[in-house]
Amino acid sequence: MEKLVIRGQKRLEGEVCVSGAKNAAVAILPATILSDGKCTIENVPDILDVAILKEILKELGASINQINDSSIQIDTSNINSYVANNSQIGKLRASYYLMGALLGRFKKAIVPFPGGCDFGVRPIDQHIKGFEALGAKVEIEHGKVIISAEKLVGAPVYLDVVSVGATVNIMLAAVKAEGVTTIENAAKEPHIVDLANFLNAMGADIKGAGTDVIKIRGKKHLKGGHTYTIIPDQIEAGTYMIAAAATNGDVLVKNIIPKHMESLTAKLQEMNVTVDVYDDSIRVRGSDKIQKVNIKTLPYPGFPTDLQPPVTSLLCRAEGTSIITEGVWDNRFQYVDELKRMGAKIKVEGRTAVIEGPVRLTGAPVRAMDLRAGAAMVIAGLMAHGETVISNIHYIDRGYERLDEKLRTLGADIQRIK
Ligand code: EPU
Repeated sequence: MEKLVIRGQKRLEGEVCVSGAKNAAVAILPATILSDGKCTIENVPDILDVAILKEILKELGASINQINDSSIQIDTSNINSYVANNSQIGKLRASYYLMGALLGRFKKAIVPFPGGCDFGVRPIDQHIKGFEALGAKVEIEHGKVIISAEKLVGAPVYLDVVSVGATVNIMLAAVKAEGVTTIENAAKEPHIVDLANFLNAMGADIKGAGTDVIKIRGKKHLKGGHTYTIIPDQIEAGTYMIAAAATNGDVLVKNIIPKHMESLTAKLQEMNVTVDVYDDSIRVRGSDKIQKVNIKTLPYPGFPTDLQPPVTSLLCRAEGTSIITEGVWDNRFQYVDELKRMGAKIKVEGRTAVIEGPVRLTGAPVRAMDLRAGAAMVIAGLMAHGETVISNIHYIDRGYERLDEKLRTLGADIQRIK
């Protein structure tokens, strides 16, 4: 088991380049199943979730050619199975996209019930509602989701909650259905738009991605043969922006789409952090005095829930009391007990955390409770006096490409040990 050892209190300075978006990649890779040929995908992040998905695609019969560190070519023409049963699949939330993609191609899918980070109940009722609206029958037996349809026919689907996963899955199942599917109350996250662009490049007809009504006119065949570049990772970018502010540093975060960062940029500015926005990069300069702020996480374009844990670590430095309300997940403050081991003064009540600052964080042995909680521990470690040892870092490796290496180039004292 590897661990990260951080000696804190070093200012981060320099430039860091953001990788391709995890949550776009984990939708686009399964989407290749819908194509009749080869797809070349660029800016694929080198993270554990992607490695697992590549294994699953290969087991289904795809061939994958690694062109370079961040580009792959996937040929799905020989996929002949609609049953996904890789032993790693349970660890991966995004395995649920195999349901929509296999259903779209074979009208059948058998996929283990999805796992992923544990922050409260993670239902898939809206995914199932979408599949059923298109004419599929869905059963859950022995830990597996079994889906089958005589034929898929486009239909209107109104999502009861704004769900990224359900929006993606319904798009995947609907692109080859007969007729028109309309998703109302759809999620608007950047990776939804990226997936729609990828599918449209294969010949799909999807309109409205990025708004709350998405219209999908089904097509018989989706072709391969094109090259697609995944968007930069909004959450990775945000993590470096927060790390720069947390260490009173001066960091240029490169290869990003500043529009995706607006909710964070506004909050950092409110905290008294200097944020300069350029075409495809953002410079963040910290401050001696961070002001308290209140934040509520919401679906895009609101403040992302996935940046809630990292920003909580930063707010331990803020002058006064900050309040964070989690608007997406029921139970996403489990990591707060780990921060308390480092001296944080945080009270959690239900979906709200009250953070007293400023406190002097001190290094301690802590655990990454999940992917973004792991990022929160790293940021706290960078801020803390003394040594922080983070265990369970496989969670961090699931979604951050070479996090420790990138932070070292910014001057952090962070080592990976066995
Ligand atoms: N929900 C339902 N029913 C459903 C689906 C969702 O009630 O059928 C609820 C959830 O319980 C939650 C809310 O709707 O309260 C939003 O869930 P959503 O479906 O949007 O989340 P997700 O698709 O499972 C993705 C990201 C998460 C990110 C959320 C919210 C991927 C693979 N995962 O999850 O990312 O937190 O959207 O933005 O795209 C991460 O990257 O660390 C991560 C957890």
